[in-house]
Order: sequence, then structure tokens, then C-alpha cells
Amino acid sequence: MVKHFLTLMDLDKSTLQKILARAIELKKMVHNKTPHEIFKNRVLGMIFDKSSTRTRVSFETAMAQCGGHAVFLSPRDTQLGRGEPVEDSARVLSRMVDAIMIRTFEHEKLERFAEYSKVPVINALTDMYHPCQLLADVQTFIEHRGSIQGKKIAWVGDGNNMCHSYINAARQFDFNLHIATPAGYEPHNKIVQAAGDIISLTNSPQEAVTDADLVVTDVWASMGQEEEQREREKSFDGFQVNTELMALAKPDALFMHCLPAHRGEEVSANVIDGPQSVVWDEAENRLHSQKALLEYLINGL
Ligand code: CP
Ligand code: NVA
Repeated sequence: MVKHFLTLMDLDKSTLQKILARAIELKKMVHNKTPHEIFKNRVLGMIFDKSSTRTRVSFETAMAQCGGHAVFLSPRDTQLGRGEPVEDSARVLSRMVDAIMIRTFEHEKLERFAEYSKVPVINALTDMYHPCQLLADVQTFIEHRGSIQGKKIAWVGDGNNMCHSYINAARQFDFNLHIATPAGYEPHNKIVQAAGDIISLTNSPQEAVTDADLVVTDVWASMGQEEEQREREKSFDGFQVNTELMALAKPDALFMHCLPAHRGEEVSANVIDGPQSVVWDEAENRLHSQKALLEYLINGL
């Protein structure tokens, strides 16, 4: 059976741990310039229905550094953008390439694609989840602080795709997640219910952040919600991660943000550019953790 990575729940706990251990190893190889041509003659198809900097460059670079190749496909110049069915596109592309990553709007479209694909499909962000980012975030935490198990993580902001993936990560990596959102912006109930008591919800950022080992936020308006920007700025008033809020977390707490960030909105400049922020390591780790994920999906562990 072909393995896919549509959410963090698609892999078991021990596989996720192995992927992150391998990511840390692969990172050293890149830094030491040790050749690791593990994808020689392999090709990754990359479908983007939304913009991207980190995801595109990390996947494309991962394939290039490993002796393979990546094909960038945008709806502007593929038949997918002219209405060719997802099922047909999946059947055709998966007869040519070794794995496919997709960034799109509806999670259901990704699931449909995966159903008809003969090769592994990776979720590179949907409206519901962003699991690749969580591989990088957990890798970053481990590198800076050791195991994330049992730690207190605070999510401050929108109950969005990133928040949903944090909930799944809490289940898979056994940490406690305290989520603070404005009323009406909570994560999906089904995802919350499935997580049980390892997560908690509040409307108080202060409560969520107190004694946290890691504070995480994201934009208030995600891709596709641009017209809600003004309204959201009002609803999220008081939810900025700034030095006053960070002061409630543990003194050695880390700050993460998947990026792109809006300084002065969800995070103050002195936090994201300050000593507790590890956002650049977090961004770099997209490269290493996705390389390890691709290795697992394409070559097997
Ligand atoms: N964090 C992230 O996925 O960034 P991009 O939108 O630039 O890919
Ligand atoms: N929540 C953001 C994440 C961007 C990487 C979005 O979906 O736009």
C-alpha cells in the first residue's frame, strides 16, 4: 500500500521520531557538505494552488541536493487550472513522478488526489492542516531543548491549519498544548475532541502562555481569508505575542512562527527578532525534515 502524508496522524509515533532523528543527521550532512544522493533519478511533482516561499524552495532544494529533480506545477499553466479532474491528474502524474506534494485550499481535494495516486502524496498545506511545518517545528524544539514530550506549548491566535496540526502533534509527540483564540476562532471541534485532555482551550493568551516552554503564533488571516483582514485585526486585538506576554512563559521559553509573519500584528518585532525566537532555524529545518520525510516515503526507512 502506498504511504501518504496528508496529516501527522498518517504516520505512527515511532516513525515520526525516526524521521526527525534522520532530519537532524541529514542537516549535519548538508552543513558538512557530505554528499547524500539518496534521490538519484527520482522526481517530485509539486502542485501549488497557493503562494509559497519556504515550502517550494525547501522541497525543490531537498530534491536537488539529493541528486533528484522537482517539477513545479501551478494552476496558471497546467490543465488542472483549466478544470482537468483531480482524479485524472493524479493518475497521470503518478505514472511519471516518484512522489507528489500539494498545496491547495480544500483538504478534501488533497484526499481525492491521494486516493487516485500510485505514489506518495504529501500535504504541503491545506485550509485544514500544515503537517510538514510541524516536522520542522518539533525538530527545532528538540535541537534547542531536547525532547518535547511532556512540555507545555502555547498556541496564541487563530484556530487555523497550523493550530490543527499542532493539536495532532500534541497527540503524536505527547506534549501539552494550551490554545488561546478569540471567541469564534477556535479550532475545529472534531479535531479538538479527538485530542482529549492533552489540549486545552481558552480565550486568554495570558492563561495559555503562563509557564510555557514554547510560544507559537501565526498570521490572523490565512491565505484565502485576505478580505477578512480588517475584521480579524479587531477580533484578535490583545492576542499579539509581545514581550509582556512572553514574560509569563518560562524564562528560557522559545518563540516560533511558521512565517511569513506580520510584525506589529500577531507578533511584535522585538519578540520575533529577539533572543527567544528560533524562527530562522525553524524555517531552515523545513529542508531537512522534508528530506527525511521524502526518504521515508520514497525509499522506505
Ligand atoms: N511556512 C510556510 O509554509 O511558508 P511558505 O508559505 O513560504 O511556504
Ligand atoms: N496559516 C497560514 C500558514 C502559512 C504558511 C496560511 O494558511 O496562510
